Order: sequence, then structure tokens, then C-alpha cells
Amino acid sequence: MSDKKFPNGFYWGAATASYQVEGGIENTDWAKAAREGRVPACGRACDHYHRYEADFDIAKELGHNAHRLSVEWARIEPEEGRFDEVAIEHYREVLNALHTRGITPFITIWHFTLPLWFSETGGFERKDSPEIFARYSAYVVEKLGDLCVSYSTINEALPFTSNGWRRGTWPPFKKWPGIDRVGVPTYSNFHKMEEKVGIVNIFKYFRVLRNLAKAHNRAYDAIKRVRPEVEVGIVHHVILFHSNGSWLNDLKAKFMNWHWTHQHLGRVYKRCDNLGLNYYLHKKFGDTRTYRKTDMDWDVYPEGIYEALKMLWRYKKPIYITEAGVADDDDDIRADYIKTQVEATRRALQEGVDVRGHMYWSLLDNYEWALGFDKRFGLVEIDYDTLERKIRPSAYVYKKIIEQNGIVE
Ligand code: BGC
Repeated sequence: MSDKKFPNGFYWGAATASYQVEGGIENTDWAKAAREGRVPACGRACDHYHRYEADFDIAKELGHNAHRLSVEWARIEPEEGRFDEVAIEHYREVLNALHTRGITPFITIWHFTLPLWFSETGGFERKDSPEIFARYSAYVVEKLGDLCVSYSTINEALPFTSNGWRRGTWPPFKKWPGIDRVGVPTYSNFHKMEEKVGIVNIFKYFRVLRNLAKAHNRAYDAIKRVRPEVEVGIVHHVILFHSNGSWLNDLKAKFMNWHWTHQHLGRVYKRCDNLGLNYYLHKKFGDTRTYRKTDMDWDVYPEGIYEALKMLWRYKKPIYITEAGVADDDDDIRADYIKTQVEATRRALQEGVDVRGHMYWSLLDNYEWALGFDKRFGLVEIDYDTLERKIRPSAYVYKKIIEQNGIVE
């Protein structure tokens, strides 16, 4: 591998998640929360459910050879234990559409939204939730395994639990007393609504995290029983906690990295054939630098992906960058952001980290959870009135990187 090149066969592409792009999903906890006015409505989103062929044409035109998508649990298992063949057939068509265009699919089995029957009965607070999730996961892979060999069970256990059971900003809106005063670094900066505040949520938070780890482990075993040949991993959202070097700040960073990353991965890595890295955020304790901000009001710090990769390399599993990207409506940060991110990834590769792919978040502008549709992460801009797609200039910079399989000046 020359200095600037990535290994042959490196996967380059973008990621999406079903609820954020497909549209027309009404039987989830998020859709219910929207009906109650607690989060913005998702509605038809990008109507990717009907327009996936045209969207994959764009991905192909942009040179992508990989695409990460998620399947919607509420479509596939609309009632407890009843699986919908029609929903599976749809995803088979989606996967075939990717293959026809020479794009390798990577499936995430569950990306945040829960079927109503599950969330209404306690969701991942339920004792039997790991088994329920394992049954669903095995069904998905049994049905799709001939068309896709790479699966992640769970997208981002920590943000899911932190927003839902600590900060109270996502369903089921449970919140620790006094949490806003502690100044815990926030993942989502949206705040509205009557949360359910209570000490009991502290216990629930840790219970949900444990159940999610168990759910992954059970799902891994169940999947391997039906399809031993596929790869199964988990997607982890690294917040890079680092410090200005003082011993106290070092200690804080170490503790937060342990809680946010290593405690969870320590519970699941033995049942991971690979790890997915989602990187957006860093928090440097004792930092005095002022950063340019993204439209999410997050620091522009794409080079942090180097340290995030190194952090995950502790587990010595192949790593896919399953998400990294920037909300940037004017598209004036994105191209440099991607270049820096790719450059930092190359550095990690050169130092021996086994990175296999890079999936930019996101292919399309989409529903940014409690923040609605205003934040624009897409390589492709969506006009939500007409659903017209418009490729952003930065997408062509990424295309050039892909064509060169690396950054070549
Ligand atoms: C999530 C995506 C989300 C993105 C940007 C990731 O943590 O997986 O669903 O849109 O961050 O906030």
C-alpha cells in the first residue's frame, strides 16, 4: 500500500437508517411520540421506501461500492411473534437493487425505533428482551442471508439508552433527577416535553444497557445457528473523551471512555466478528481551543476519528466506519471534513488498525430524530416539498477519493 492509498477492496460508501429515510412507518415508539407532539413527525421522510432504486443510482454515480442500511423491525415483526413476508420481500428487492449496481450491502438489524407492541410492554427494560431480539435477528438473517453477508445487530447502545433513560430526550423520555445541572456531555441538544423524572431511571438506564449487551450476544448465537457463514458485529458510537493532560482531566477522560465505550464493548466483543465505528463527537476536558461548529453545534473535529479507531483497536477486530459525517446545510465544511476524516483513517491504517470500510453519514438528508428535518447530513440534498434529490458538490470530492482509493494530491 503506498502512503496515500487504501488497501485494495476497501469499502467506500454511505449509510442510511430505515426510519430516517423510508417514510410511512407508523407502528413504532417514535411515530407514537410524534402523534403525541413530543418529537417531530417523520411522515414520508425521503420516501426512500419507493425511491430506493433512484437513490442507489445516485450512489453508483458517486462511485460507492458499499452501502449500509437498516431494516425496520416494526415492518418485519408488526405483532409479537408474527413476521411479515411482504416486508422481507421488500428488503430482498432493496438488496438486489444494490447488487445490480455493484454495491455491497451492510445491514443493521435494528437502528433505534421499536415496534409498538415491544415498546408498550417495556422494550429493552423487559427481562426477556434479549430473547425477543435474538428471535427477530435470526429471522432477518435467515431470510436475507443469501443476499447479504455482513450484519450489525444494534446501532449505538449508548446514545439510545442515554437519550431515552438519562436525558429524557428520546422515547421513552425517562430522565435522571438533576441531570441537566451535572453537565453530562450531550449527544442530542433538543429539549422539549414532559419527561418522566425519577431516581428509578438510574437503575433502568443500567438495566437497559445490560439487556442490550445480552441481546447482542443472544442474537449473535441465534444468527450463527441459522447462518454460520455470515459476519456479525455491533455498531458503537464513540464519543472521544480526551484531556489537556492534567492528571485530573486524564482521569475524567479515562472514566468516561470506560463507561461510554469499554464497559459496553467489554460485554460483547467476544461475540463480534467485526466492530462498526460511528464517530461524530469529542469532549476534551480542560480544552481552551475554540472550534468551528457544525449545524448540530458540535465541534468540527474530524481528525478525532484516528483516536477513535485506535480506541476500538483494543479489541483486535476488523473495523468498519459505519457512520461519520457532518450536518452542513451550506456544504461549506463537508468536503474538508471528509478529506480530514479519510486522512486520519489512513494514518490509523498505517499504524496497523484493520479498517475495512468507510460509510459516510448519510447518503441523503434525513429525519434527524428529535431535531426533525432541519439538520442536513446528506451527500444528497432533499427538497422535502418535492422530494427532488440534488447532489451536493462535496459528494464529488468524496467520489474522487473513492476513485483514487485514497487521497492523492
Ligand atoms: C445515528 C444516526 C444519526 C446520526 C447523526 C448517529 O449517532 O446512528 O441515526 O442520524 O448519529 O446524529
